[in-house]
Amino acid sequence: MEKPYIFITRKLPENLIEEFREQFDIKMWESEDQPVPRKVLEDEAVKAQGLLTMLTDQVDEELINSAEDLRIVANMAVGYDNIDVEAAKKYNVTVTNTPEVLTDTTADLTFTLLLTAARRIVEAVDYVKGGEWGPWSPFLLAGSDVHHKKLGIIGMGRIGEAVAKRALGFDMDVVYYNRSRKEEVEKKLNIRYEEWSELIASSDYVICLVPLTDQTKHLFNNQAFKEMKDSAIFVNASRGPVVNEQHLLEALRAGEIRGAGLDVFEEEPISSAHPLLAMDNVVCLPHIGSASTETREAMIELSLKNLEGHLLGNGALTPVYS
Ligand code: NAP
Ligand code: GLV
Ligand code: GLV
Repeated sequence: MEKPYIFITRKLPENLIEEFREQFDIKMWESEDQPVPRKVLEDEAVKAQGLLTMLTDQVDEELINSAEDLRIVANMAVGYDNIDVEAAKKYNVTVTNTPEVLTDTTADLTFTLLLTAARRIVEAVDYVKGGEWGPWSPFLLAGSDVHHKKLGIIGMGRIGEAVAKRALGFDMDVVYYNRSRKEEVEKKLNIRYEEWSELIASSDYVICLVPLTDQTKHLFNNQAFKEMKDSAIFVNASRGPVVNEQHLLEALRAGEIRGAGLDVFEEEPISSAHPLLAMDNVVCLPHIGSASTETREAMIELSLKNLEGHLLGNGALTPVYS
């Protein structure tokens, strides 16, 4: 019998792929850092039973419809807004993501963004490197405290909970808003639920960790930023389009919030001319939430196990729908 064909849309380390070659015919896109061109993805999808995709690949209805033998799309990310899940359901294609394995790594980075923005770390590093360091002075690069301040987390899922744990270690007062109440988490961590407007208006730090969906697109708009404290710092580690970036920029310029820490943008990558980069009070990172070697390897392994499980009839480990 012919081995099922799997196409991987990026060049991944061969040592992680090797063991799967016994059971599967596996081909990878040739580049480690450049996304597969659409035409190549289309041609490969038509031949494949399984795809291992990156968040930079658009898996839309057209692609799914044309791929007659396709049975599973394994996304190497926990977010799967790049995949048309409804179309996948319609054509009986399983979709998997990589939950859990990246939770702590992404929470570490999210909390790092908060600390970095609050304590003006990027400005301080630039100041030293730029040879500007003069005598010590009382308010030189004075930022905002993190400890004992109020943190509002929007999206109390896996990563939201892991961020809450970190914040409690800093003696923060942690509240959250979520589509559904998480009473177990409230009890376990001793944190509170607050309605959206109450949380937004009273938090010193607001962290966004909801998935990008039709309901969350531009959830953070000019109204939300206006309602925040002038001293608030906003952190986004979910997906760029959850924030109206133009509105964020206007709010920062008008002093409606104090600063921002961003790992994600409406259109990635951003260029060095992006207006948010010109602002001292904004920390911009290139979507590196889950970027530790250990976690990226775990994400690859989980994606491969999902493909293996589904294609061999044992079931995928982490399907996004059942
Ligand atoms: P998760 O466990 O599914 O958590 C998402 C939470 O958001 C859930 O609690 C969900 O509530 C809530 N939610 C969904 N829609 C909502 C809405 N309309 N209003 C309010 N709350 C809503 O996911 P996760 O593993 O924590 O990951 C969260 C997101 O982080 C991912 O989707 C991804 O986009 C992003 N992410 C980014 C990076 C990065 O590199 N920056 C890395 C990993 C993940 P319910 O319980 O009611 O469904
Ligand atoms: C990364 O952004 C992910 O969703 O895993
Ligand atoms: C997925 O699309 C969700 O709403 O969590």
